[in-house]
Amino acid sequence: MTEGNTPYRPIGVFDSGVGGLTVCRKIAATLPAESIVYLGDTARVPYGSKSAATVIRYAQACADLLVTHNIKLLVVACNTATAFALETLRQNLSIPVLGVIDPGARAACSVTTSGRIGVIGTRGVINSNIYTKTIQKIRPDTCVHSVACPLFVPFAEEGWTEGSIIHQVAQTYLTKLIKKDIDTLVLGCTHYPLLRNPIAAVAGNSVRLVDSAEETARAVVRTMEKENLLIRDNVQGTHRFLVSDGPEGFSQTGIQFFGQALSAVEWVDVCPK
Ligand code: DGL
Repeated sequence: MTEGNTPYRPIGVFDSGVGGLTVCRKIAATLPAESIVYLGDTARVPYGSKSAATVIRYAQACADLLVTHNIKLLVVACNTATAFALETLRQNLSIPVLGVIDPGARAACSVTTSGRIGVIGTRGVINSNIYTKTIQKIRPDTCVHSVACPLFVPFAEEGWTEGSIIHQVAQTYLTKLIKKDIDTLVLGCTHYPLLRNPIAAVAGNSVRLVDSAEETARAVVRTMEKENLLIRDNVQGTHRFLVSDGPEGFSQTGIQFFGQALSAVEWVDVCPK
């Protein structure tokens, strides 16, 4: 069983930092036989406040680096990179490329009863309006309200996921949105599942929280089945973690996002052109 034999090539996953580990975790749990190479572009995080042109350049550099690891499929585990760079990466790469927005939108459409959906994400994602467009393409009868919550990312990165301060921040961001009578709230940023508790406390019991990680893992399975890329043997995949800066900090913070200790985190040079 060698990597050169197509199905044994790893899956590539990248994000601007640790957030994409929430997606990586679901893929690893759903497909234990598959090996994964994860890249966190920690030298350039956050992507959420940067322009589309900049995010496209960074995302292309991440993809190019992962391609050198002989990946068979790429998962863009970052909402901002998906919003701005998915189409470019699909055009430029010869392997399947999946993002997190379409799976998140699909999950929201299947969960909502009233059709009133809230979306929270980075400034880049919310200003792009991509969730509204994607959700309404799937279900034109829905009404989508969205709010950017830029402070959530540093809180999650710092591990401040409980307590009065994050509760107040969540209240400040979400109160108006909840008043729109939504029954579903999309966590449109890979960092936000870590803030599920304070977000749920403000949103209340009548609002279902949707996290795209699980649905993305299902989309990965469907694509790999279709492309005949799944490992069918009873083997255990390996997980490799690469970062463009600060491997020690990534190891520490990453545990919460990945749900278990990360095997050695390696520093790599990611060079956008
Ligand atoms: N991972 C990013 C996202 O899902 C959030 C962090 C950032 O701004 O880079 O949009």
